[in-house]
Amino acid sequence: MRYRFYKKIECMMLPLSQSLLVSLAVPILCLSYTPSLVVGKITDVVLFGDSFTDQSRAHSIANGSVPGKDYQEVFPPIDFSADGGVQWPWYLGLYGNYRIWNYAVGGAVCSNNLTPLFDEPDVISGQEFWFVQDHIDGFNTSGQRLLLDPASFVVIQYIGTNDVGINSFVTFNESANVSLPDVADCQLDHLRAMHKLGVRNFILNSLIPLQITKLYSNSSAPTIYWPHVHDGNAWNNGMYNLVHSLNRMLIDGVKVLNAEWGGDGKVEWFDTYGFFEEMFNHPTQFFNGSIPANVTGHCHQCPDPDDFTQCGIGDCTLDERDSYMWWDELHPSEQTGRNLAAEMLKKIEGRSKF
Ligand SMILES: *[C@@H]1O[C@H](CO)[C@@H](O)[C@H](O)[C@H]1NC(C)=O
Ligand SMILES: *[C@@H]1O[C@H](CO)[C@@H](O)[C@H](O)[C@H]1NC(C)=O
Ligand SMILES: *[C@@H]1O[C@H](CO)[C@@H](O)[C@H](O)[C@H]1NC(C)=O
Ligand SMILES: *[C@@H]1O[C@H](CO)[C@@H](O)[C@H](O)[C@H]1NC(C)=O
Ligand SMILES: *[C@@H]1O[C@H](CO)[C@@H](O)[C@H](O)[C@H]1NC(C)=O
Ligand SMILES: *[C@@H]1O[C@H](CO)[C@@H](O)[C@H](O)[C@H]1NC(C)=O
Ligand SMILES: *[C@@H]1O[C@H](CO)[C@@H](O)[C@H](O)[C@H]1NC(C)=O
Repeated sequence: MRYRFYKKIECMMLPLSQSLLVSLAVPILCLSYTPSLVVGKITDVVLFGDSFTDQSRAHSIANGSVPGKDYQEVFPPIDFSADGGVQWPWYLGLYGNYRIWNYAVGGAVCSNNLTPLFDEPDVISGQEFWFVQDHIDGFNTSGQRLLLDPASFVVIQYIGTNDVGINSFVTFNESANVSLPDVADCQLDHLRAMHKLGVRNFILNSLIPLQITKLYSNSSAPTIYWPHVHDGNAWNNGMYNLVHSLNRMLIDGVKVLNAEWGGDGKVEWFDTYGFFEEMFNHPTQFFNGSIPANVTGHCHQCPDPDDFTQCGIGDCTLDERDSYMWWDELHPSEQTGRNLAAEMLKKIEGRSKF
């Protein structure tokens, strides 16, 4: 039943000359097309990613306790996530009344075999292993079984920032045998692997416009993430090119996957890039702290890039926080996360233009 996911207009383009039986069948096929992901009711959301999504795992690992089966810790109160507060998947769970299974880890990449960085659990193996532990019975045996109803949940994959970032592509530190298409293939291969495990609903998030972050701006000044003078212009242009290139490969890959699966499973593209541009261009609609909306600066300050113990000196106040699009030189703020969560809810429900 490949028609299920075709656009309405394509249903109507079936040749009129076909038999009565076929013409009768056409409206039924068209009606079964819905703009949202699935017919079933979504109760659970599974996430893979990095610090843009991680709600606690990286700090838990750094603290010596590697998350095990059914780990659910959300920071705060015992710590903070990389947006300075609560991470967006928690808000998505709140807004959509979903159960959240968040496997994202700060510092992660798609594959440590390609762009290792900190060797945090990567999407393609370490994070996938956590999913298997929680949701697959009898893994790799003849009795292997997915414990969630495939129609009841959606997988969101949102990775790539570290894969293309400092100490990797943007600073020309990638291995000589690794190219950007390898990174794109990794993302698609992970979706294939999840599909093989029985998952049927996917949302693939694009990379954000990283060139508008302070870290990848055209400024050559040191930052806390890169405490050295560098060629800001080269980074800024390079990052623009990397993000656009990877996004283009991924959106093309979405078409490939949907064709491969022939209607038995669906991946939707979420244009995170476009949504961040929307926030950037219309700040007053999205940022509501006690000072005018600010999409160029950031709340969290590190006055000496060579001394991270000084980070926090000069931060914006709690009342001002929600005015900022960015928490620090790289990470979106908690309010950006709330906005993203609200838009992702629309996406899951088939009401988002992104
Ligand atoms: C780190 O470990 C300490 C001691 O076990 C514990 O009290 C604290 O809550 C942990 N912090 C995090 C963020 O896991
Ligand atoms: C699955 O089982 C096969 C055969 O026992 C083994 O070779 C393979 O390594 C296993 N794969 C995983 C991912 O455990
Ligand atoms: C990245 O490349 C630069 C220049 O070749 C080198 O100095 C630096 O050590 C490399 N960093 C890593 C993490 O490989
Ligand atoms: C790249 O080469 C290194 C050794 O030079 C090897 O360890 C690694 O597996 C290779 N990576 C890929 C993706 O082929
Ligand atoms: C850097 O970007 C800013 C605004 O984004 C622009 O005003 C400035 O001219 C740029 N500087 C250089 C050296 O390109
Ligand atoms: C800003 O709006 C969000 C909803 O997007 C709300 O949860 C938050 O409390 C608001 N912040 C302030 C400071 O009013
Ligand atoms: C935005 O915030 C930064 C602090 O990071 C500040 O330096 C800058 O002046 C603010 N910009 C506007 C337009 O308020």
